[in-house]
Amino acid sequence: MTVPVLTIDGPSGAGKGTISRLVAKKLGWNYLDSGSIYRSLAIALLQQSVDLTDESTIVKVAETMDLAFECGDELVVKLNGENITAQLGLESTGNTASIVAALPEVRRVLLQKQQDFRQLAGLVADGRDMGTVVFPDAPYKIYLTASAEERARRRYKQLKEKGIDANLSRLTLDIEERDRRDSERATAPLAMAENAFYIDSSNMSIDAVIEEALNLIR
Ligand code: C5P
Repeated sequence: MTVPVLTIDGPSGAGKGTISRLVAKKLGWNYLDSGSIYRSLAIALLQQSVDLTDESTIVKVAETMDLAFECGDELVVKLNGENITAQLGLESTGNTASIVAALPEVRRVLLQKQQDFRQLAGLVADGRDMGTVVFPDAPYKIYLTASAEERARRRYKQLKEKGIDANLSRLTLDIEERDRRDSERATAPLAMAENAFYIDSSNMSIDAVIEEALNLIR
């Protein structure tokens, strides 16, 4: 029996994480936050002060890192036994993740780790290439986006709520830079799958987006 998958791809800050988590909860399905796998690798590399141009060492770290995900109300991620959840959301982590995610060999090594999440009763998978590369046969695919300004505003609000200092114009520049890197890389670039359902959430509430996602499955 094939396990159903809903893929939600899109640029940074489009709300994929929030929407995916809530939709998975409503459906009673598993949830894959694929960005957190790239982010965990970034943390491992930063911890070990690996030179980000040293591709063979980066691939070795990706191959050997031990990741454990505990999905309760909040996602808890352990890297080699250490709880790294607090560092996952940092801008520096996301930016490093985006740099190493451009390496084809890194993507190849991390592919199986992502596909392993496909378990009954179903999977909601959030990322950049879920519908195009990791789960191309997924029966349900969404491409979720929002304007760069709106995404930077949401990110700014999120960081402020966590008590993290942030600068809106800096965040907008970072988001545009990350979009460019994620869209222009040669391997598995951010792209809308041919058969994906397009949602621009710039002027939509979270509930409205969830409703659209559930309608797609119904
Ligand atoms: O989604 P999130 O911001 O957590 O992802 C961090 C970075 O990881 C992205 O900017 C992207 O470069 C990379 N990523 C990826 N493919 C995915 C998920 C994330 O390349 N499926």
